[in-house]
Formats: sequence, structure tokens, C-alpha cells
Amino acid sequence: MQSVTFRLLEVFQSIVDNGSITAASTALSLSQPTVSLQLKKLTSVVGMPLFVQTYGQLTLTEAGEAVYQCAQEVLGSHSRLESQIQALQGVEVGILKIAVVTTAKYVIPPILSPFCQQHPNIDVRFTVGNRATIIDRLQHNQDDIYIFSQPPVDDSLQCTPFMQNKLVVIAPKDFDGPDNCNLQTLSQYKFLLREFGSGTRRAIQEYCDDNGITFNNPMIIESNEAIRLAVTSGLGLAILSEHTLAQTPTDGVKILNVTDFPLVNHWQAVTVKHRQISLAAQAFHRALLNVE
Ligand code: PGA
Repeated sequence: MQSVTFRLLEVFQSIVDNGSITAASTALSLSQPTVSLQLKKLTSVVGMPLFVQTYGQLTLTEAGEAVYQCAQEVLGSHSRLESQIQALQGVEVGILKIAVVTTAKYVIPPILSPFCQQHPNIDVRFTVGNRATIIDRLQHNQDDIYIFSQPPVDDSLQCTPFMQNKLVVIAPKDFDGPDNCNLQTLSQYKFLLREFGSGTRRAIQEYCDDNGITFNNPMIIESNEAIRLAVTSGLGLAILSEHTLAQTPTDGVKILNVTDFPLVNHWQAVTVKHRQISLAAQAFHRALLNVE
């Protein structure tokens, strides 16, 4: 009888992480038939289906979940062993898996770039998604470090704040409605809001719930850039992190002076206490905490 190999687990993990055989074949630089064949082999070794197809999407069966969990543990421990051995040999290589919420993609690259220059042999895997997506990755223990401004409340997590995140109210440059006012006064205008599942949206919702504010027929847009451009085009007002404005042309928008704004929270580096993170990840964690 054949047995489960590292390669089969690696291919399987990639199918789950990337959501499809096609995406996994791209990620692994393998042909699609090769990936399908590996999946078939693993399924026959396990003796039970690992996926079911629901509405065109692959969903793990219970056996699939168990194999995925095993792949996480085996491959995670293998890569830690590799980086420990290499560290013992004095070579700083290893894998850093970092997953960040959408808005943090403006914050992390300027820290990652000098880090990668200092540690050129570290293999960085960088994932971006909204808060709900990154929580899902965290629950599947897929990465070493997660960046949230609002981490889930969970005793098994270690959360370390390292930088402020300020949410500001923006309007088109030529907006001639009220300024120097409170959010209630502006709520009659059209607001462009991030989707539910976004951390930015969550922070806004909490503020609105606390202050009894409801937006009049808001438009939902799932992208900070698209919201900024929509505001520039005069579609409405928005509340975004200052980071989303800092690195893009902001000629078409202005920040309004609104009571209680900016809303300030903190970017936090989050790790799972029981996960032994790679040496590379430990080094990057230290780099995050040293940010001025
Ligand atoms: P988001 O998260 O990009 O999903 O809105 C930002 C945050 O958590 O502050």
C-alpha cells in the first residue's frame, strides 16, 4: 500500500489554501493534471473523499479536515526543523508566513522591505484579506503572524500593539456641505462603506451604534482604493484609515474635521500562543515592535 508523502500533503495543503486545483497548480508551478493526479493518489491512500463540490467550490470533508490538520502539523514542523538546522549552521533562512487585513497592506511592506534586505534568504509568504478572511486563516493556524487592528478576543492569542491606525472622514475636494461638525450631521449624505467582515467597517459600526447614528442608504464597496476613487469622483463621503490616503494621490479628497475623529485604534501583531513560530517569524515580530 502507498503511504502519505510530504509531497502529497504539500499539494493538498496548497489546494485548500488556494481554493482550487487550478490556483494550486499556479502556486506550485505544476500542471493541472499533475495536481489532480496527486489529489487522486492521496484520496486513494486515505480511502475516503477529501473534498465535496458545493456550488462549484471545493469544501473539505471531515476526512479532508483531518488530513489538512495533519498537513499543517507535519509541514509546519518540517519547515521549523529546516530553519532550526540552518540557524544552527549560522545561515538565517526560513519561512515567514504573514497574513494581514486589507488596510494593513499599506503598513507592512515598508517594514518588510528593509527586513528582507537584511535577511535576503528568508522566504516570505504574504497574504492579504479582509478581517473575516484573516480570522479564518488564524482559525486554521495557517500563518506565523497576523496583523489586525481588531484581533478576535481569544485567550490563546498573543496580541502586541505596534502602531496607531487612525480612521478619518473624507469628502470630495469641492464638498461644500458641513465641516467642523459631528458624524450625525453628515449622516444624511451618501456614505461609501467597506463590507461587513471588514475591520474598518466594524470600527465605524461600533462608533455609530454607541452614538445612535444610521447612514442613509450607504453604498458598500469592498476596496479602500475604490472607495477613495469614488469619493474623488463625487459619489459620496467615506471613513477610511489614514494609511490608505498616505501612499496614494489625494488631490481629489479632503479630510473633514469631525467630532471624535480620527477614531484611533492600534495595529497589533498577533500570534497563536501554542504555535511554535519560525525563527524568521520571530525576527520579523521583533522588527515590528521596533517600528517608531
Ligand atoms: P479591513 O481591516 O482592511 O478588513 O477593514 C482593517 C482593520 O482591521 O482595521
